[in-house]
Amino acid sequence: MAAALDTTLLPDTAVVTATDIVVGGCSLTDLAATYGTPLFVYDEATLRARARAARGAFDDGVAFASKSFLCGAMAVLAVEEGLCLDVSTAGELDLVLRAGVPAARIVLHGNNKTDDELRRAITVGVRQIVVDSFGEIERLARLVPGHNVDVMVRVTPGVAAHTHEFIQTGQEDTKFGFSLATGDAHLAVRQLLAIPGVTVRGVHLHIGSQIFDVGSFEKTVDVVAPFLHEHGVAELCIGGGLGVAYVNGEVTVSLGDWARSVRSALARHGLGHLVLTAEPGRSIVAQAGVTVYTAGTRKRAAGRAYLAVDGGMSDNPRPVLYGSGYEAVVVQRPLAERTTTYRIVGKHCESGDVLIDEAWLPDDVAPGDLIATPVTGAYGYAMASNYNRAPRPAVVFVADGVARVVLRRESLDDLVRLDTLLA
Ligand code: LLP
Repeated sequence: MAAALDTTLLPDTAVVTATDIVVGGCSLTDLAATYGTPLFVYDEATLRARARAARGAFDDGVAFASKSFLCGAMAVLAVEEGLCLDVSTAGELDLVLRAGVPAARIVLHGNNKTDDELRRAITVGVRQIVVDSFGEIERLARLVPGHNVDVMVRVTPGVAAHTHEFIQTGQEDTKFGFSLATGDAHLAVRQLLAIPGVTVRGVHLHIGSQIFDVGSFEKTVDVVAPFLHEHGVAELCIGGGLGVAYVNGEVTVSLGDWARSVRSALARHGLGHLVLTAEPGRSIVAQAGVTVYTAGTRKRAAGRAYLAVDGGMSDNPRPVLYGSGYEAVVVQRPLAERTTTYRIVGKHCESGDVLIDEAWLPDDVAPGDLIATPVTGAYGYAMASNYNRAPRPAVVFVADGVARVVLRRESLDDLVRLDTLLA
């Protein structure tokens, strides 16, 4: 709809004037001039506020889902705010260990963990391993002896959350977890209890991502409650998945309300004593991040106005993958009425390289204008690629008027560093 941007989509500290957007005390115009575009800007205050909200809402052990956005500075921030980190590959595990995250704050996930991943997690002594398959149990039986390992059993509750099919994970037909309905989950607990050194600490669930309806989580608790009673586990991790608002008019649930709804569902089943943890990713980092692009080519085709920016599907593949919607705003005129729709496209060599299918922008948007897309802090940089040999953008954290580069922009030299002929 033709309207100004709903500024509540911007990070908490954003101040919008007629000629600029200031985040964390730093002007987006100045940041673009200093660091170039495309540029990811994260507001540290928003990251910390969401991390603190998650820690306050759940019990100790609540973990930041590092897949949503990970670098050294983010790992350090999460730990400073009292969170654990969930990792699901050797790469994520290695990064958080290098960042100095204590092993006791790390949770290892993965539906296809390698022996090396399991061995490293066991040797460093991670907080817990979330077990996902019978094959993994067999391998744990080989690798654990001589160590003590806490595990969570990932249970598939058979609940289809209301979200995009590609990011649903709680339904029966999934590669994740042990089915409750078939009895596999029971068998998994029994097999794990038989391994010396293994302690089954609890049950893990993750029903999907970008979920707005807390009823899906409550329904999940209803489904697993008998299982939790039967096995007398100490902890339930409800996973991640809380949705965030991406576009004008979307309404979200707070981390606090999410936790309260799950707690009351547990209490209804006489399980109010369980340690309740979660693994939010998107709800911690999405709104903290804004991407700043420079507008380039503008053209009309088939009656449609096109505006190309200097990034695209390589820094934000979500629109292509999930049809996700975003808003756009001209940084130098953020309060201007957005009266015209443009298809905002990237610079990659395919027609599908669309960032926003129908973005409302002021009619006079012109090459050289800075275009910001709010709510791009989750699964943007994390899923960035070098398609068309595009260097990945820089990432800056801003706080109290100071910007620090936490990930520098890739250079053309970086792009050939793996090329055995050219490096
Ligand atoms: N826990 C587990 C086991 C997960 O698989 C995930 C996300 C999370 C926690 C965190 O979920 P969140 O709170 O961020 O929704 N690339 C997709 C999202 C994929 C989610 C993968 N798993 C997107 O951009 O929408």
